[in-house]
Amino acid sequence: MTHSIRFKFILFILAILLVLLLLLNTYPITSSRDAVFQEKRSSLSGQAAVVSSALGSLERLTPDGVSDVFRFLEISSFDRIVVIGETGNVVFDDGHDAPELDDLRTALEGRSVFRSVFANASFSSSVSVPIGTQNALIGAVALYESDTERAGIILSIQQRIVILSLVIGIFAILLALLFSWLILRRLYALTRSMNIVAGGDYTHRHVVSGNDELSELGREFNALTEQLELNESQRRRFVSDASHELKTPLASIRLLSDSILQAEQMDADTMREFVADIRTEAGRLQRTTEKLLDLSRLDDGVKVVPEPVDLKQVTLDALSALTPLARDRNVRLDSALDDGCVIMGSADDMAHVIFNLAENAIKYNVPDGTVMIRLSQDADTVTLTVEDTGIGIPEEDRLNIFTRFYRVDKARSRASGGSGLGLSIVHDAVIAHGGSIRVGNNKPQGSVFIVSFPRPTLEEIGI
Ligand SMILES: Nc1ncnc2c1ncn2[C@@H]1O[C@H](COP(=O)(O)OP(=O)(O)OP(=O)(O)O)[C@@H](O)[C@H]1O
Ligand SMILES: [Mg+2]
Repeated sequence: MTHSIRFKFILFILAILLVLLLLLNTYPITSSRDAVFQEKRSSLSGQAAVVSSALGSLERLTPDGVSDVFRFLEISSFDRIVVIGETGNVVFDDGHDAPELDDLRTALEGRSVFRSVFANASFSSSVSVPIGTQNALIGAVALYESDTERAGIILSIQQRIVILSLVIGIFAILLALLFSWLILRRLYALTRSMNIVAGGDYTHRHVVSGNDELSELGREFNALTEQLELNESQRRRFVSDASHELKTPLASIRLLSDSILQAEQMDADTMREFVADIRTEAGRLQRTTEKLLDLSRLDDGVKVVPEPVDLKQVTLDALSALTPLARDRNVRLDSALDDGCVIMGSADDMAHVIFNLAENAIKYNVPDGTVMIRLSQDADTVTLTVEDTGIGIPEEDRLNIFTRFYRVDKARSRASGGSGLGLSIVHDAVIAHGGSIRVGNNKPQGSVFIVSFPRPTLEEIGI
């Protein structure tokens, strides 16, 4: 395929070259030839007028009379002169072969004839004019002239142009070859890099030099490869984290069931305790896999048909679902929810967002702490804020809390049944809805999560 690009490129250059050289080889020659024709016509016609008027002074055209006139005029620059009388008879001819009389006969009818041809390295020109007045024509005279000097100049110019054309042609082809080689060499290098990356080596980077379109392509390719490398490492980490998360509760379940099976005798209460533990671990597994499925659905970017979602209603539902947990932890749930905070999207996703944020605010709170949820809107944004008075998130962890399986305090979070997936789901859902999420400090202690969504127009809501 690359060969064909080179082939097409050279062909293109050749075509342009051919047109240019054709023009160069024809236009100057034909135009200077035409100029010579023009000049011949006027000089020969002028001389013919002089000769004709001199001959017109004779009463009759006789060989002797004509010769006398020519001698008197001292004409010597013509190759041949032919004079015919009024009947068409040849009166004077200083040529060797039989003269061509057609033009002379036309002249005898009162019309002058001029001819000039450029052939055999010479301009051969002739002019035939009538002799006498319009009413009394007594004959016609033809002057023949050949000019090898000017023809020679034109021929030598032509020769030089041909040589020049050859030199230009060879030079242009060499340049085209060099240029295509320079371009194609870089394309080959880029293709090699692509093959290496396609083979799975995402650490490979294309060496970019210069600042033209090909360098830009190389840079874009490197950026793409970098993204691939990042995705690949995220994927690997995700798989290993997920396996690890699933492995721990599975190992507990195995251990607990082994204990039951191996015990010779186990009283019913102990057995119940073990089975209850197994149930807890199975619940943890179930929650983790459900969250993983949520994430994978968000990853797939499957677009649900957006519907108007009243965030106030979704928040109230989440709060009532979380009331038992808050009571357990001795945390007070407060809210200030404006009416009419509607966005376009999926009610399920919004339920996940609000539930996870509020659940975290309760779980990572302190006894007698508070959770405050606010909902407000301005001209173009709907804002949800979840504030807590809990343990807070250290500055250095804030960038990572939206990463899958990331927990600030591993032991504490796991103990509270957390899988480290909640905020990833929140983040992905918010982004999928065109929104943004930030986390900051709450005063005097605790965290605050601020989520903003674009406010839909009335038309979008369908009002
Ligand atoms: N409001 C908060 N206050 C303090 N730390 C928080 C808060 N919210 C989240 N975190 C920290 O961020 C981590 C990630 O939160 P995330 O919700 O993703 O996971 P999780 O709560 O541990 O588990 P899951 O939500 O999947 O049950 C938590 O483990 C916790 O350390
Ligand atoms: Mg959570």
